[in-house]
Amino acid sequence: MGWQRLCSAQEVATGGLTGIEIQGVKVLVTRVGDTFVAFPPLCPHMAEPLEISGVCADGMLTCTKHIWQWELQSGEPRGEAEKPLLYYPVRLQDGDVWIDFERELTYDYDD
Ligand code: FES
Repeated sequence: MGWQRLCSAQEVATGGLTGIEIQGVKVLVTRVGDTFVAFPPLCPHMAEPLEISGVCADGMLTCTKHIWQWELQSGEPRGEAEKPLLYYPVRLQDGDVWIDFERELTYDYDD
């Protein structure tokens, strides 16, 4: 599939989590300064919907369910988090956010 337009950059606020469906798959997008980060909608820990449990602040994403945290620009886990955040490659083009969407990114969950 390759690069797909996700939304207008104006639809994405710093500190906000915007959920958008692309090819029937939900993707969350947020803004960190001048850059945009797009990632799967469920927490890597126990699949909580990050649109509800996620908080973005100071370049970090926190799932408030069990306080797993990630650095948004790199997806690196911080604190208690044991898995990295998966994310889609993003580029900004003519005021729109595009993602490289080859396939849906999902996590392996232990039972
Ligand atoms: S479900 Fe998100 S931290 Fe546990």
